[in-house]
Amino acid sequence: MKLILVGFMASGKTSVSQFLGRKLDVPVLDLDREIERQSRKTIPEIFAAGGEESFRLIEHQVLAGLQDFPGILATGGGTPLREDNRQLLKDSGAPIVLLQASPQVTFSRLHKQSGRPLADTLSEEGIAELQQKRQASYDQCTDLVINTDELTVSEIADRVVGLLG
Ligand code: S3P
Repeated sequence: MKLILVGFMASGKTSVSQFLGRKLDVPVLDLDREIERQSRKTIPEIFAAGGEESFRLIEHQVLAGLQDFPGILATGGGTPLREDNRQLLKDSGAPIVLLQASPQVTFSRLHKQSGRPLADTLSEEGIAELQQKRQASYDQCTDLVINTDELTVSEIADRVVGLLG
């Protein structure tokens, strides 16, 4: 892999990966979309059928199959929570960039989108709590951090390219 983007829901992983893929002319893969493709179910359907536990297992299996993917990978917001997933990400040898956004910005972005079972009932306070709970897992596998609150997708992409040299 060339680059891995991690971060909380709505931190910009998907948009930035697509932008960078076009800019650098490399393939892009979104882990959630790949999970949906392989399981032939949407993310909400997977959660409805087997809960978060079953989603995490499928997520791990799909991630494990991507070690030879030669492009940019946008992970899901919960991918780094499992130790074995963090190890897979690190073992890929690709730089891992954490995109961060404040609870306020995350809340407003999430309310313009749908299809995230874990976000459906989250208040701004709930987002702040979940972000805090996940921070150590993100930090454990991250090489670079970019705060995306004030940045456009193209500015984030420029920063990623600049930081990676
Ligand atoms: C999740 C984030 C989602 C998706 C699933 C669970 C999470 O991905 O993998 O709904 O636990 O944060 P995005 O970060 O792309 O929304």
